[in-house]
Amino acid sequence: MAAVLVVTGSARPNSANHKVVALTKAQLEAKGVDAIVADLAAISMPFYDAPMPPSSPDFVPEHDSVKQWTQLVADADGVVFVTPEYNHNMSAIQKNAIDWIGKEWDGKPVALVGYGWTSGAHQAHAAARESLAANLKAEVLDTATNLFFMKDLQPDGTPVDEQAVTAKLGETLDELLAKIA
Ligand SMILES: Cc1cc2nc3c(=O)[nH]c(=O)nc-3n(C[C@H](O)[C@H](O)[C@H](O)COP(=O)(O)O)c2cc1C
Repeated sequence: MAAVLVVTGSARPNSANHKVVALTKAQLEAKGVDAIVADLAAISMPFYDAPMPPSSPDFVPEHDSVKQWTQLVADADGVVFVTPEYNHNMSAIQKNAIDWIGKEWDGKPVALVGYGWTSGAHQAHAAARESLAANLKAEVLDTATNLFFMKDLQPDGTPVDEQAVTAKLGETLDELLAKIA
């Protein structure tokens, strides 16, 4: 059974992320996938403070939280980032998690799901793609699921039309599953 890691993107207690992550997990499970949620707020990594970059051959994670996160990514056949748009970028908690890992991103299939207001998560996705694909050589899918508040989601993350949101998510998840099959 394929294992897909679903990565949270917000530490806010009332975050819309909870509902979008739950929908993503449920849909992966309905497709016969072992979906594991990486709750970045619970894993609680420090801001990057290692003496050398993770791309260094001598880099060894020391924090238990970073070891846990690195193992989750290493074990996953594919990764889905569920990304809110914060100031035209991905959230800092996700960027910090990306920064903590080097070689485990190389060749890793990654799908992007995001949400926001005027342009959804368009700019957050562009930033995530630049970090993950251009620099870290992850296999980021060309397409992404971009959800808009009021059209697709209520501000608390509840789908306006669950079937329509499920269909949008399904396109991206099917593409990811085809890649890791
Ligand atoms: C720090 C911060 C910055 C934000 N910047 C943007 C933005 O650039 N574009 C946007 O569409 N929404 C922006 N928003 C609104 C968020 O899309 C909205 O609050 C969303 O619910 C945040 O995701 P979360 O609930 O998972 O934390 C911002 C929200 C926060 C907290």
